[in-house]
Amino acid sequence: NEIYLQGLGGRLPRFTTDGTALEAAAREALEPGPFGYVAGGAGSDATVRANREAFDRWRIVPRMLTDATARDLSTTVLGTRMPAPVLLAPVGAQSIVHQDGELATARAAGDLGVPMILSTAASHPIEPVAEANGDGPRWFQLYWPNDNDVTVSILSRAKAAGFSTLVLTLDTWTLAWRTTDLDQAYLPFIRGVGTAIPFSDPAFRAGLTASPEDDPQSAILRWIPMFTGTDKRWDQLPFLREHWDGPIVLKGIQHVDDARRACDAGMDGIVVSNHGGRQVDGAVASLDVLPGIAAAVGDRMAVLFDSGIRTGADIVKALALGADAVLLGRPFVYGLGLAGEEGVRHVLRSVLADLDLTLALSGNRSPAGLSADSLWHA
Ligand code: FNR
Repeated sequence: NEIYLQGLGGRLPRFTTDGTALEAAAREALEPGPFGYVAGGAGSDATVRANREAFDRWRIVPRMLTDATARDLSTTVLGTRMPAPVLLAPVGAQSIVHQDGELATARAAGDLGVPMILSTAASHPIEPVAEANGDGPRWFQLYWPNDNDVTVSILSRAKAAGFSTLVLTLDTWTLAWRTTDLDQAYLPFIRGVGTAIPFSDPAFRAGLTASPEDDPQSAILRWIPMFTGTDKRWDQLPFLREHWDGPIVLKGIQHVDDARRACDAGMDGIVVSNHGGRQVDGAVASLDVLPGIAAAVGDRMAVLFDSGIRTGADIVKALALGADAVLLGRPFVYGLGLAGEEGVRHVLRSVLADLDLTLALSGNRSPAGLSADSLWHA
């Protein structure tokens, strides 16, 4: 209504919310390096495409004459109350698309009460992001450093700053073959040396002979091996339990056995995700593995989903296939790049309004009414 009424007064929205056109607008507005980093996937982008194609294979079957006039989209996941089953995915280095980066995202998310998940690779430190987020719900995403002092320092700062749930990302223990970035020799974190987590972390800085501001190369050379490598195994998860007293969610799960294993390890939830097609080129579409995983563990732990969500209909489909909530990735980053805080707010409000209408017109007054029966497999 707001958009139509403003249109009557001759005011158009600042930019489109159509998924494809939004990406095109961001391509126009951003430098090729940052745009390529956000939009690109691993290798040939086969999994980026597969993630979208998987949504096209499911269709919603609308129901008529139901009581869907007054809707309630709110839900609670792992003790976090949210206005709709939607969270902002952890996205690192957001200052490459807008100088305010995560601060702008935190303000918009906090305003709307939509949970944000702050990345370990964020370009602003933990505390100012928390302050910008105000009373908003917030979770923290960990890339698990190969240095316990740094891990403990980051976790305790996140806890003290009011981040309630820990999301441990498992699928990015090294960066994939990302053709777009390689072609441009583009590494986003260079811009964040100094302010970024962990460059700003006292335990990280304690291991340097010069500050990252004075000697960025040495800082980066300490950072790379600390955040890459394969020395983490399932039996090390209790270490995180020891140092985090809230819920823990494993992100990057695609195999049903890994989902069961997360459950057996006492984890509180998982994010069924292939990192938006940015890690394993040719990996299965995240939506294709969701129903099997939800059936196996959905009654024992929270099942969240991401990779390819662009519209309200996509969210309805993921919820119907067993997700408790979804994470939105690239679209809000494009909004940030196009119009900072206002852009994130515009994208979020549009996606939530689209979800509300799609849910209503398919005959549901809340997400609880959705199940596989709500869909048809094309
Ligand atoms: C990401 N993603 C990500 N995930 C994570 O756990 N920590 C991180 O720092 C990042 N950084 C990041 C940067 C950029 C530019 C993108 C696009 C993505 C992955 C993210 O959380 C999520 O899994 C995907 O973005 C979901 O796919 P869609 O919605 O972008 O298709």
